[in-house]
Amino acid sequence: MKAWSRDSWRDYNILQQPTYPDKNALKNSEEKLKSLPPLVFAGEVRNLKEELKDVTLGKSFLLQGGDCAESFENFSANGIRDMFKVMLQMAIVLTFAGGCPVVKVGRVAGQFAKPRSSDFEEINGVKLPSYRGDIINGFEFNEAARVPDPKRMIEAYYQSASTLNLLRAFSRGGLADLHEVHRWNLGFIKRADIGDKFEKLAEQLTQTLNFMEACGVTTANTPTLSETKLYTSHEALLLPYEEALTRVDSLSGDWYDCSAHMLWIGERTRGLDDAHVHFLSGVKNPIGCKMGPDAKAEDIIAMANKLNPNNEAGRLNIIIRMGANKIEDRLPAILNGVKKEGLNILWSIDPMHGNTVKASSGFKTREFNAVMSEVKSFFDIHKACGTIAGGVHLEMTGQDVTECTGGVFKVTEDGLASRYETQCDPRLNADQALELAFLIADLVKKR
Ligand code: PEP
Ligand code: CO
Repeated sequence: MKAWSRDSWRDYNILQQPTYPDKNALKNSEEKLKSLPPLVFAGEVRNLKEELKDVTLGKSFLLQGGDCAESFENFSANGIRDMFKVMLQMAIVLTFAGGCPVVKVGRVAGQFAKPRSSDFEEINGVKLPSYRGDIINGFEFNEAARVPDPKRMIEAYYQSASTLNLLRAFSRGGLADLHEVHRWNLGFIKRADIGDKFEKLAEQLTQTLNFMEACGVTTANTPTLSETKLYTSHEALLLPYEEALTRVDSLSGDWYDCSAHMLWIGERTRGLDDAHVHFLSGVKNPIGCKMGPDAKAEDIIAMANKLNPNNEAGRLNIIIRMGANKIEDRLPAILNGVKKEGLNILWSIDPMHGNTVKASSGFKTREFNAVMSEVKSFFDIHKACGTIAGGVHLEMTGQDVTECTGGVFKVTEDGLASRYETQCDPRLNADQALELAFLIADLVKKR
């Protein structure tokens, strides 16, 4: 076995990478990134790992979510604020109605690179390289836009820094204060049932806070009432970017990928002897790994041995994404097989990527019922196996989009066109995300 260094992944087989035509420009961007400050601090990453340890042991719950792909064009303070508010709303539902502390991790401040099923996209007989995310090439369907440009890594870095800055401000500057719970409702929550349900919960919370205040527990002496923590994560797909932001922590002497608190490996790049797994085996961050319908118990055991040889709780998150119609058939054997090994694994469910379908209108969509159904199966199967359903991993937005069908508000196939804004996969809108949170809260309570 070769020794690990932050660039040793370059000796391994690698999938899903762009071919940059200008090697000099690539080198320049990499050097520039290496000279820029880390986006997160190793101490914060260690805190997240501690929190994920509790999730692994069933003492709290992981809520991970955000855009499928962040974009340069749709970047705005309001977009970040609305996403933050939905996360807070969902976390309150899970904490208060589900009776369980929640660890919040955004797919944000770095979620720019996308794996693609096909290297090319064809429209009306014109064939161009696929869009791979704003950190690599442009979304527009023309030849110039689709050329991979390494300068995009620098823009992604600065956008991530700016996003993180705002998230840190929101977390500590008052917006996350529990006394503000009524103000987290987004203007367009138009469905009486979900909106009312949330208002009722907010009312109970306010009464509880008043009672606590009467007992002497205030924001002045208990900062956790007015502050929150939102950690960041993304798929560590574009390894030149990840390498450049990987730094030695001066306190521990260990390597951390300081582009985000948590990184994950996608379903398409989880080859055990390939570059992505090798790269992440050498950094100390919490690591997620997606597992699709063809995964076997042995794959997960082998991944755990490679990424988490010390069996540290909080290090490894296996993210199941099988599809509502496959999970019942496949997951039980996996859980039973892995359980025998005594491995510390945080199991979470991504009910998005196994449930993508093409609507007759041509839009890529996901049915809200299928999403709910996969989540419910995930909890039921864990209960039957005596293992812990630890979290959810969602693609969602704070915006009022129409990308997934169904939900109480009933987005129809015909309605998809009205506000279909994603540059990649269809996301739950804020209503659907909140509706799902109430369902998950029930399931968490019964864990
Ligand atoms: C994603 O999370 O955006 C993604 C591409 O997922 P997966 O690797 O599970 O297909
Ligand atoms: Co996606």
